[in-house]
Amino acid sequence: MPRLEGRYGFLGYGNMGEAILGGVLNKGLLSADRVSVYDPLPVRMSAARERGLICAASPAALAGACDTLFLAVKPQQLENALRPILDKLPADILVISIMAGISIAVLRNYFGKDARILRVMPNTPALAGAGAAALACSDTCRPGDIEIGKAIFNAVGIAEVVPESCMDAVTALSGSGPAYFFYLTECMVKAAVAEGLPEPLAERLAGQTLVGAGQLLLQANKAPAVLREQVTSKGGTTFAALETLRAHAYEEIVQRAIHAAADRSRELGK
Ligand SMILES: NC(=O)c1ccc[n+]([C@@H]2O[C@H](COP(=O)([O-])OP(=O)(O)OC[C@H]3O[C@@H](n4cnc5c(N)ncnc54)[C@H](OP(=O)(O)O)[C@@H]3O)[C@@H](O)[C@H]2O)c1
Repeated sequence: MPRLEGRYGFLGYGNMGEAILGGVLNKGLLSADRVSVYDPLPVRMSAARERGLICAASPAALAGACDTLFLAVKPQQLENALRPILDKLPADILVISIMAGISIAVLRNYFGKDARILRVMPNTPALAGAGAAALACSDTCRPGDIEIGKAIFNAVGIAEVVPESCMDAVTALSGSGPAYFFYLTECMVKAAVAEGLPEPLAERLAGQTLVGAGQLLLQANKAPAVLREQVTSKGGTTFAALETLRAHAYEEIVQRAIHAAADRSRELGK
């Protein structure tokens, strides 16, 4: 992977900021002396200092020290975080935002219509280097900007480029998706405990089953339906479970849940 050029500024160094930057540094994509960080929490700044990152003394100092600005604050913190630094940023800034529900149009209201903006929806497995991120870019972006975004998010998982109109569906699928799998795992553990397994054992087996199924899905390069059929012999145990799921409209429930998440994402983005 080629090293990234230029100077990077991270506004907000919370869970996601730290995870993404950690992956980027570990992969050698950027050297720490090219990255400035600003976060109002002293404990976050200490964590940044320990990684060798440049700790900006103020948001204004961060703005003057970067040509790519990474927005990793909460959406509701955007206004307070951005207003004081807008007139301090270089004119040709590239903006990369991971804020859920904040559209390119909203960001253009801050940065201007010619601003180069990448809007990204990552997910929490990025904390474990196994994230799934979708990237949408403004029509003002240059091909190199998208390559920068892909390189950053490939450092903590996979990165897919999508039209911005896909972002609500992406949010409902991979953004919120980890929680669906955690919930399914929780339910499986409870059921296994009811069948007589000790809870810690059930958690270890269920967790490894989740990871193993995911790895098999990626490595086998087959559709999930094909892998499911391969482990389902008629009249067997898996068959009995799947028939019960079907009888209780499992597919319809999942569809409704994802639709509800996408609807909520559309609402929040208004
Ligand atoms: N976590 C996810 O699964 C996920 C998935 C997709 C997208 N995202 C997006 O990622 C973004 C960051 O999420 P997170 O989980 O990393 O949140 P987080 O841990 O709360 O990190 C945000 C950091 O920004 C700091 N901050 C607040 N005001 C600031 C300011 N004016 N200037 C600079 N920094 C400021 C916060 O400090 P305080 O704690 O003092 O406020 C906090 O340390 C959010 O916009 C979220 O929508 C998250």
